[in-house]
Amino acid sequence: MRILFIGDIVGGSGRRAVKTLLSELKKKYDPAFIIANGENAAGGRGITQQIAKELFEQGVHGITMGNHTWDNKDIFNFIDDEERLIRPANYPAGTPGKGFTVLRNASGKELAIVNIMGRTFLPPLDCPFQGVDGILEKLKKKHKYIFVDFHAEATSEKIAMGWHLDGRASVVVGTHTHVQTHDERILPRGTGYVTDVGMTGARDGVLGMEREAVLQKFKTQLPVRFTADEGPWQFHAVAVTLDPETGMTRKIELVRRFETEALFD
Ligand SMILES: [Fe+2]
Ligand SMILES: [Fe+2]
Repeated sequence: MRILFIGDIVGGSGRRAVKTLLSELKKKYDPAFIIANGENAAGGRGITQQIAKELFEQGVHGITMGNHTWDNKDIFNFIDDEERLIRPANYPAGTPGKGFTVLRNASGKELAIVNIMGRTFLPPLDCPFQGVDGILEKLKKKHKYIFVDFHAEATSEKIAMGWHLDGRASVVVGTHTHVQTHDERILPRGTGYVTDVGMTGARDGVLGMEREAVLQKFKTQLPVRFTADEGPWQFHAVAVTLDPETGMTRKIELVRRFETEALFD
């Protein structure tokens, strides 16, 4: 049982990377499930129904979100009807959408996915640690395979979440910082973990956005509108192999590709 999880897809470059690489990655990793973080898929801000549809058609089974969930207003038109897209679970009660779901693939396998968001240097949502406990309690009764996307800024908060969920979730991956960390590992009780999967978007911008605008902002501190960089892409993902007996991680591998360096490892 293998999962391929694609880190924050940013704008047209990120979507081009997914479109270009998915068939090759399906052959190489043979994933039972493909999940992607889509919080920046529409021009760096949010996601639209059309983009979600395209990702599903390309073979993505589930989409997670983050602090940019609401940036594109189109989300309000479909989030409550789309079972395969989740947003952070620790938004206040009554927020549209949901924070976890169960995906089913063509061969009938099931994977529970959970999205939560950190509170360090991010909006003060409900406690992610208590929130995820309540969700896992429900899921654990029925589901062997549980995948958690912890969308957070601070490496410390993400590492703490990894320890918090060790032995209870099959995998905990971090998203949001857009920079892949090299600390993938299997924690002592079997949970696969990486602090940040990294982003899938333009390589030569700043976190997927056009670099001139970001530089301008840093240099002048004046308001500047950022737009997604549409240049050559980089692709970041993680491939996780789960043990069918225990549901825990057997192997976790980082995946990184560049448009400018063709498709070799
Ligand atoms: Fe992001
Ligand atoms: Fe984010």
